[in-house]
Amino acid sequence: MKSLAFIGTLAFSWLALVQGKVPPPDSDGKYTIQAPGIKASFIPYSAAVTNLFVPDRNGTQRDIVLGYDTAVEYAEDKIHPNYGAIPGRYANRIANATYELDGVRYYTERNNQPNSTMHSGTNGWSYRVWNVTNVCHDSITFSLRDEPFSSKGMPGLVLGRVTYTLKPNTWIISIEGEAKTHRTPLMLTNHAYWQLDAFANPFNDTVLNHTFSMPFSKRQLAYDSVAEVNGTILEIPKYGINDFWSSPKQVGANASAAGWIGNCGPGFGGYDCAVTIDHDHLDPKKPQVYSEPVASLRSEWSGIQWDMYSNQAGFAFTSCGFFPKDVLPIKKTQGGPDSANDGFVPTYGCLAVEPQDWTSGIDHPQWGRLPYQIYGPGDGVYRNEIVYKFSAS
Ligand SMILES: *[C@@H]1O[C@H](CO)[C@@H](O)[C@H](O)[C@H]1NC(C)=O
Ligand SMILES: *[C@@H]1O[C@H](CO)[C@@H](O)[C@H](O)[C@H]1NC(C)=O
Ligand SMILES: *[C@@H]1O[C@H](CO)[C@@H](O)[C@H](O)[C@H]1NC(C)=O
Ligand SMILES: *[C@@H]1O[C@H](CO)[C@@H](O)[C@H](O)[C@H]1NC(C)=O
Ligand SMILES: *[C@@H]1O[C@H](CO)[C@@H](O)[C@H](O)[C@H]1NC(C)=O
Ligand SMILES: *[C@@H]1O[C@H](CO)[C@@H](O)[C@H](O)[C@H]1NC(C)=O
Ligand SMILES: *[C@@H]1O[C@H](CO)[C@@H](O)[C@H](O)[C@H]1NC(C)=O
Ligand SMILES: *[C@@H]1O[C@H](CO)[C@@H](O)[C@H](O)[C@H]1NC(C)=O
Repeated sequence: MKSLAFIGTLAFSWLALVQGKVPPPDSDGKYTIQAPGIKASFIPYSAAVTNLFVPDRNGTQRDIVLGYDTAVEYAEDKIHPNYGAIPGRYANRIANATYELDGVRYYTERNNQPNSTMHSGTNGWSYRVWNVTNVCHDSITFSLRDEPFSSKGMPGLVLGRVTYTLKPNTWIISIEGEAKTHRTPLMLTNHAYWQLDAFANPFNDTVLNHTFSMPFSKRQLAYDSVAEVNGTILEIPKYGINDFWSSPKQVGANASAAGWIGNCGPGFGGYDCAVTIDHDHLDPKKPQVYSEPVASLRSEWSGIQWDMYSNQAGFAFTSCGFFPKDVLPIKKTQGGPDSANDGFVPTYGCLAVEPQDWTSGIDHPQWGRLPYQIYGPGDGVYRNEIVYKFSAS
């Protein structure tokens, strides 16, 4: 059956080539591509990854990203965690929902309480249905035409593209943006949420026992009392709660430490932080990634590990401490109602790691990040290159 489906995909893409258009998705609204040791599905809504299967230590295929069974659920979901999406045109926060560019003050949508912008507001790129412009057996490309002010406070036409490619045990994410008519904020990322046990671990359905490292992330962007970036950059002390640089540690290693609750956001525990990646930076306009992993995540139970390579200068990352309990259902491919827990994503049930330039850099010009976050005609192509390599032992 599998090989038949595979041949079907090939035939589809050949037909697509001949007819100059792409095939329709499957009955769940998804496109599936594969390579040895990896299979993944994607949808046009938010250009999201919906499923990603890799073998665990026993060779059992595990779907290790969060999402929904069908494409329609993504648009209906009121909580909208940006599951697997490409947020844009300016990912993550804009403190106080305002920034200045070339002497003009712009006001963006306050969709993040009490007063900041998250992922460009409720008509950002992670709320749009993208065009599928190419699909073949191991790769898919989505594109988006973002008209001026489609998101509040975002001037000029931007063309966005993302190509997802699978190679043996490897997922390559190549995100591009071009500002065609006006200088504008431009910062994109992929927002996959990981659960390396695929909710099948009978002993634990959280990521608190996953081991995480970010060897180059020695500084964090400080937040004020309402989780607004306040401009201060703090060193992350060795053995501090946010120290994933001195050695790998479990996500929940410091869960009983004073400061765990409210660590990077009021009212909830764990991680929802923005950190820098401190190495000899690459040119973000070039499609090259740093030769060493900038983050790694592993679960002892499944034995699954990913190592991530990136061309970016920072991360936002979250351990899903703010996820409401018993609201978001687990996919059928992860056991659904019969999964190892009650069938819902628990608090701390996932980890998202979003490589991107420094969060809220457009309203903190003193950081010197504007050349990497503001693009206009003639500035070349914005590129965010992310490579995940998977292994199991
Ligand atoms: C936030 O923006 C408002 C205008 O919308 C301005 O009046 C206020 O001073 C700003 N506050 C901070 C803390 O920057
Ligand atoms: C944003 O929220 C903080 C804390 O509630 C407050 O100090 C600040 O004045 C607020 N800014 C605006 C523009 O509401
Ligand atoms: C998809 O392509 C059509 C035809 O080129 C275009 O009119 C439309 O704006 C595109 N949609 C998006 C979301 O980019
Ligand atoms: C999962 O593991 C974490 C860390 O050891 C622990 O705090 C939590 O209670 C465990 N959850 C369950 C359901 O056993
Ligand atoms: C999770 O990690 C804690 C701390 O290392 C350990 O005590 C516990 O046994 C682990 N639980 C599982 C299910 O691996
Ligand atoms: C920003 O917040 C941090 C605490 O998270 C604090 O140490 C720092 O002094 C604050 N900076 C400013 C400019 O308020
Ligand atoms: C965090 O956990 C690590 C690893 O167990 C430990 O070395 C460190 O002292 C802890 N830090 C705090 C603040 O609890
Ligand atoms: C791997 O197989 C062993 C032996 O059957 C079993 O005890 C273990 O739970 C399996 N691990 C996973 C991650 O499925």
